[in-house]
Amino acid sequence: MDLGLKGLKAVVTGGSQGIGRAIVRTLAEQGCAVQFCARNPGRVEETVRELSAEGHQIGGTALDVRDAPAVRAWLAEVGAFDIFVPNVSALADDWATTLATDVSATIEATETAAGIVRRSAHGAITFIGSKTASYAAPHSPAYGAMKAGMAHYMKSLSLQLMPAVRVNVVSPGDILFPGGYWDGVRLRDPRLFEAAERRNPLGRLGTAEEVARVVAFISSPAASFVAGSNWYVDGGSVSHVQI
Ligand SMILES: NC(=O)c1ccc[n+]([C@@H]2O[C@H](COP(=O)([O-])OP(=O)(O)OC[C@H]3O[C@@H](n4cnc5c(N)ncnc54)[C@H](OP(=O)(O)O)[C@@H]3O)[C@@H](O)[C@H]2O)c1
Repeated sequence: MDLGLKGLKAVVTGGSQGIGRAIVRTLAEQGCAVQFCARNPGRVEETVRELSAEGHQIGGTALDVRDAPAVRAWLAEVGAFDIFVPNVSALADDWATTLATDVSATIEATETAAGIVRRSAHGAITFIGSKTASYAAPHSPAYGAMKAGMAHYMKSLSLQLMPAVRVNVVSPGDILFPGGYWDGVRLRDPRLFEAAERRNPLGRLGTAEEVARVVAFISSPAASFVAGSNWYVDGGSVSHVQI
């Protein structure tokens, strides 16, 4: 199946590591030109160097998504683009940090990007949520609540922007990659890590690439009738019925 991504331009926030980096690479492999941001300039440069060496059209900018003027300047500089993937989360437990990054900064960036992607014939916004939005999370109530709130916001935005832009959510489950959250748990607390493996019916955690492939599909013209949806990439680990 041809996803129809060749020649399109995508913008990803938080693209130097983990799920965001896999999204950048996968979109580029499908023929998109991709621009991403992250805070650490060294890791931005390294990512651009590595992915460009694979023959992809990649550009990276060092900025903090909480710096709204910097984000607006970056998106203006990128110019016309078709796909926006707000991927950054503070991955924090406290409300203030989570509100500032996962909510305020993400909405600001998304609304600026919406004004640009709505001019594309294939406009798409794919927000990276989390399965944690859908159940009680006593150890990280702020994170789960904000992801739930953002999924609600994305559903409303979908109706606001249709038919010009398809807005969807991809909600990963437990995802393992070097240097990521679950890699830290694996090294720090092997018993907790084994419990996470057991609660996943596939007997393992997911990979960043498994999330990225779904993001690429949903963001692509091949998913032209998918709008306002929330796709779980959780290996079947959420057992309740999502209606
Ligand atoms: N990992 C999981 O198991 C999992 C599960 C469910 C959902 N998710 C969701 O997937 C998304 C990505 O998570 P991840 O685990 O891949 O994260 P990660 O490994 O921490 O990577 C985050 C990326 O975003 C950048 N970043 C972080 N804060 C930023 C900021 N304020 N401004 C600009 N860039 C920033 C980081 O680079 P710098 O540090 O250099 O800025 C890095 O490139 C998040 O929305 C998360 O909630 C993850």
